[in-house]
Amino acid sequence: MKLDKQHGGIVLAALLGGAAGIGIIALALSMARPDAEAIAAVPEQPSADYGRRLLRDTAELMGPGHENPELRYTGSHLDCSSCHLDTGTKPGTLSLMQSASRYPRFSGRDGGEGDMRDRINGCMTRSMNGRELPRDSVQMVSMELYINSLQAQYSAMSESRRTAVEPAAFVEPDRAADLQAGQRVYEERCVVCHGVEGLGLQATLDLNDGYVFPPLWGPDSFNNGAGMNRVLTASLFIKARMPLGQPDLTDDQAFDVAAYINSKERPQMANLEQDYPDRTTKPVDSPYPPYADDFPVEQHRFGPFRPIREFYASQKK
Ligand code: HEC
Ligand code: HEC
Repeated sequence: MKLDKQHGGIVLAALLGGAAGIGIIALALSMARPDAEAIAAVPEQPSADYGRRLLRDTAELMGPGHENPELRYTGSHLDCSSCHLDTGTKPGTLSLMQSASRYPRFSGRDGGEGDMRDRINGCMTRSMNGRELPRDSVQMVSMELYINSLQAQYSAMSESRRTAVEPAAFVEPDRAADLQAGQRVYEERCVVCHGVEGLGLQATLDLNDGYVFPPLWGPDSFNNGAGMNRVLTASLFIKARMPLGQPDLTDDQAFDVAAYINSKERPQMANLEQDYPDRTTKPVDSPYPPYADDFPVEQHRFGPFRPIREFYASQKK
């Protein structure tokens, strides 16, 4: 039997059952192992359906423990859907439903125009801490086909379903983030799923099967070059989506807990100084140097951001 990682259902059961519920679910998942070979087989022809599976079961299909070393593309056991919820079909924050129409486009980070495949490789090397997929590989083309197919799905959606049930967008507090307050939010609202050490909860005893609750920091998390490592990007996501199933944090709480998570150790990406060839286009919350200003790295990581924005605005005059 193939047991999907049906996150919503699992999360609900876990919330109802408390910590014991999570343990039982983890056990149930570990006993229901699917036929690994059938799942791991790569189809000869790319398809949107395989692309959807790649976004959902990324760790199993191209994770660092894949039995075929050539297919070990990602460096962590996250799935794309750890961030792009419901394989990108959930409208709102980090939805992929309208992505096809956004590419090719200019990327300040890369200093040039990039297409969908370049963007996917951006998440492969940063969010997934892995390596680039060959542009014409079955994996790459399948994911692109899948994301393109979401556009039609979006067009067919009713207006009410498009304007998703999401809290009001995150509004940045005009202050530096408070890491201690962030730790308190973490302990009260996040520990139950993401764990005391931020290492998440594995789907089975075998890490290669991925996570039910993904890690937020540590060696198996997104790397420091990832968008989620920017405190404003993370705050936006957390306010809209977390705690999963009950996203009710205030702007202050989302900001502080995002900073707390991103103050922790995570994999480091090489050559980040080459990002943003025009450094004046670097986002204020880009957490790694160099910058075209003299504000300390700490301020770029945790704010306050208003003085930085004012500096760049005055440069333009
Ligand atoms: C750790 C979280 C995380 C994971 C895991 C992740 N992404 Fe992303 N992804 C992001 C963030 C953050 C952005 C940037 C959104 C923005 O530009 O505001 C993004 C952007 C994208 C975009 C561009 C969306 C658009 O409309 O411009 C695509 C396509 C994408 N990701 C695909 C993937 C794929 C495929 C995977 C798995 C191989 C993946 N992502 C894994 C966080 C993640
Ligand atoms: C009820 C369980 C639950 C709670 C509580 C929860 N999360 Fe999550 N979180 C998840 C799941 C599950 C995912 C992956 C998305 C999916 O699989 O649908 C996730 C994904 C994430 C991600 C992106 C993926 C990654 O690994 O980085 C971040 C960041 C995150 N959560 C932060 C938080 C923060 C901060 C809190 C507390 C305010 C929190 N979460 C509370 C279940 C939870």
